[in-house]
Formats: sequence, C-alpha cells, structure tokens
Amino acid sequence: MRQKFYITTPIYYVNDNPHIGHAYTTLACDVLARFKRLDDYDVMFLTGTDEHGQKVQMAAEKAGISPKDFTDKVSKNFEYLASKMGFSHDCFIRTTEARHYESCQKIWRRLMDRGNITLSSYSGWYSVRDEAFFAENELVNGVAPTGAPVEWVEEPSYFFNLSKWQQPLLDFYETHPDFVAPESRFNEIKRFVEGGLNDLSISRTTFDWGVPVPNDQEHVMYVWLDALTNYITATNWNNKEQNQFDKWWPADLHMVGKDILRFHAVYWPAFLMAAELPLPKRVFAHGWWTNEGQKISKSLGNVINPIALIEEYGLDQIRYFMMREVPFGRDGDFSKTALINRINSDLANDLGNLAQRVLSIIFKNLDSKIPSIPEDLQKEDYFLLNKLKELPNNVRVLINEQSFHEALRIIWHVIAEANRYVDKQAPWSLKKTDFNRMSEVLGVLVEVLRGVCLILQPFMPDASEKLLDQIKVSPEERLFSSLTDINSLSGRIIEKPEGVFPRYLKSEDA
Ligand code: MSP
Repeated sequence: MRQKFYITTPIYYVNDNPHIGHAYTTLACDVLARFKRLDDYDVMFLTGTDEHGQKVQMAAEKAGISPKDFTDKVSKNFEYLASKMGFSHDCFIRTTEARHYESCQKIWRRLMDRGNITLSSYSGWYSVRDEAFFAENELVNGVAPTGAPVEWVEEPSYFFNLSKWQQPLLDFYETHPDFVAPESRFNEIKRFVEGGLNDLSISRTTFDWGVPVPNDQEHVMYVWLDALTNYITATNWNNKEQNQFDKWWPADLHMVGKDILRFHAVYWPAFLMAAELPLPKRVFAHGWWTNEGQKISKSLGNVINPIALIEEYGLDQIRYFMMREVPFGRDGDFSKTALINRINSDLANDLGNLAQRVLSIIFKNLDSKIPSIPEDLQKEDYFLLNKLKELPNNVRVLINEQSFHEALRIIWHVIAEANRYVDKQAPWSLKKTDFNRMSEVLGVLVEVLRGVCLILQPFMPDASEKLLDQIKVSPEERLFSSLTDINSLSGRIIEKPEGVFPRYLKSEDA
C-alpha cells in the first residue's frame, strides 16, 4: 500500500492582504507535497484561512461590512495567491465552514467530558494582533513580547487545564526528538514548558465572531483552539460518510513560522493529549523575511506583494530564490540584488545555458536525435553520472529534514559538474575530431539534464516541465521511480530548443 503524507500550512488571518510571509510558508509545503507525490506517496496538502476572532471582526467593522461578508471576500485573495503561486494543495479550508464548527464543538466536548475544561473568569492582558493572552510578567515595556499593544480584559471564561499537561508534554518531547525542528527552536519550547504552564483561557464573551461554545451561547471559542482544530476538520472527522480521519491523522508535518510555534508545539499537543487524540509527527518553524534589511511591516510600507514579484521576475524564479537563498529555518533578507543574481547566475547561466548548449548541438549536428550514453564509460563520464546517481537519495534525506536550500545546493553542485564536463569535453571541437565521442558526451549530458529536471520538478514545476518536454520525457516518465531508467531517451527526436530561463535585465540594460 502507498504510504500517506499529510502536510499543513498555518491558516492565514484574513484581516491582511496576502504577503511574502504567507507565500513562503505555503511554498515550502508545496515543494514537500510535490516531492512526496513524485516519490509515490498518497499526499494530502492542506491550506486555508483563519476567519474568526477579534482581529478579523475589527477589520470587518473597519470595512463597514459584516464579518461573514468580509471573510467571504478576503478569503478569495488567499485562494488567488495560491493559484498564482502554482500551489498544489488538495484542500483549502475556511474556519467559517459548517463542518469546522462541528469539529471544534466535538473537540470541546471531548475536552469537557474528560474534565479538562472549567468555567471561571479571566483577568489579564490580551493582544488582538497576536490573538494571545499575556501575564503581567510576560509584558516587555508594557507591550507584548512581539511589540503588539495589549489591552486589559476581564470576562467570564472557560479554562483549559494546561498546567496539568506540563509533564506529559516534557515526556513526549523526550521520546520524540524530531517533534520540533530546527533543534534550537525545540530547545526554546522545552525551556518554556519547563518554566511552568498556566491554565489557558479558551473562550471569550466580549465579542461574538467565533464558534459558539456548546451549551453556553454567551461564549465563543478562543480563536487559537478553533484555528488549530482545522487540521482535523479537514479529514472530515465528524462526517459519517466521508470520514478520513483514520487515513490522514496524525499529520506528518505542520509547517509554521517561528512566531506561532508555541501554539503548535505546546497548546496543540496538550489539547490533543487531553482529548485523547494522536499527536502530529512533526512541527517545523521557519524564519522570517526582512525587506532589504528592514523588518517588514505595514506601518513602514515595505510589505512585499508576492504577485507583483511573480509578474516582474517570473514564478519559478521567485520559487527558486525563496527556497535557495536562505537556510530554511533561519531568518533571511529579501534583496533585489540577491534575487537578480540568482536568476542570472544559477538559472540563466548554470542551468539555462547548459540545456541550451547541449540541445542546440544535438539539434544541429545529430539530426535532432538524442544520442546514447557510451557503452564503455570514460573516467569523466563515470564521475559525472555517478554524482547524478547519488543525487536523489541525498536530496530525499535533505527534503525530509526540510533543508530545501541544501537540497538545491547539491543539485546545483551536479549542474556545476556538468558545466565543467561540457567545457572540458568540448563537444563543439569533437565535432571535427571525433564525431562519435561528441555524440557520447551529449548522451551523458542529456542524461544529466533528465535527472536534474526530474528532481527540480517540486521546486520549479513550470520550467522543469518545459525542459522535460524539450528532451521528450513523457508525462508517465516523470515520477522519481523513472530516475533509474538510464539511457531511456536515446533515439528520441527533439525540436528546436528554446531558452527556459531568460536573463533578468534592468530596463536601462534591455
Ligand atoms: N492564523 C494564524 C495561524 C493559525 S494556524 C492554526 C496566523 N496567521 S498569519 O496570517 O498571521 O500568519 C501566517 C504565517 O505567515 C505564519 O506562519 C507567519 O510566520 C508567516 N509570516 C508572516 N510574516 C512573515 C515574514 N515576514 N516572513 C516569513 N513568514 C512570515 O498566524
């Protein structure tokens, strides 16, 4: 039976327009989901929008429309971004769906029935921007640690007995060393839990834009309990006919930004333990982008619109840059100079030129017919083909660790070797001196192009597709299981090659 892989993005607050941060988290998941599909996994890739809470209610008020109309409208911006970015999600969930209300209420009842919820009252600080509660001693100069303003809240509230789960959480972390990555973030989480946990307020009464608490219409659920539950709702947990909970749950990976790790690595596993449900296998916290060295914020007016970027630089170029430029898990800077460098150097020169050179010689000198690799490999052929052969497993290991930048780095290492090989073998000179050897060299190079393009599909789906089309790899031959079919293209007829990665020229150079 095929193995399953269930991967999730955070669901995005709809009070904001989609920006680079949203595109980044989902892109990483998209690369992973595509990779797993090509490795023949049965994949469920979930993304969506987080539509309740005070922050969204206030944004709707500001827009002068009802929260329902507001969320219906702005949720579409996120679906639009997903289509523009070429994301391959299997499901786009909205927390305003009826099935989600049912599943939140089901979780609530499970927590209640097991004695983990009690009615009391909350008095303390609340940050609407973070949708989070803070104790007095957590504030830094009177604001939340994130810099968000806080307001004093006093209201009746249901509490979840989070403190009871301190030791079970620590035990779980101990026995699941891969539960949170990167390791430094996992250590922060452990320190936080070791410091003691306060019971958590999980309902609000001062506004009503949320999932009603069962049997108490005065309360709506705290938006984070509601939001986290989306990961289970999407399995149709509460639907008799279409229930796929057993198939998909637990999730294999929750991808999140570092700012929301605590919710996923502390609260969520505690809720699940308390509800007697299995815990997700892994949570990965990625870093944040700055823009030309500056923190990105609406007030600074330097928010990066991913759609404008795609229009200017090209989709695969942006996808490549975001996955290659910054070690995944660390913070990184978005600079146009760095982006243009990557486009011109890695894509146009290293890969684009290699493909164009190899295919042009075949087109012009071999009646467009892809040659075979040599029967007796020379040392250099063997060296290059061997590097190619090792690549898939090495990439697979890195992808499973979410080291996307490293995966691309080792793919580019093989591309660099292929460029060295082409320069050294100089097929354009062999044309006159040893036609047969020229053809063998080109056979080796097409094999490298095939392998590299197959592995690049998850990162740059459009460009890989174009290149694979050009070297006549049929759609059925694009799973990773075909990687070992060496020499399978020999004898196929190519068409006049076309460049896939144009150089980026500033308008004054064009
Ligand atoms: N709604 C919650 C998540 C609930 S999940 C059950 C939320 N939404 S969000 O829209 O505010 O943020 C979504 C994601 O965008 C987070 O993972 C966050 O880290 C990411 N980013 C926001 N700004 C970012 C950057 N400048 N750089 C990289 N990612 C950033 O939180």
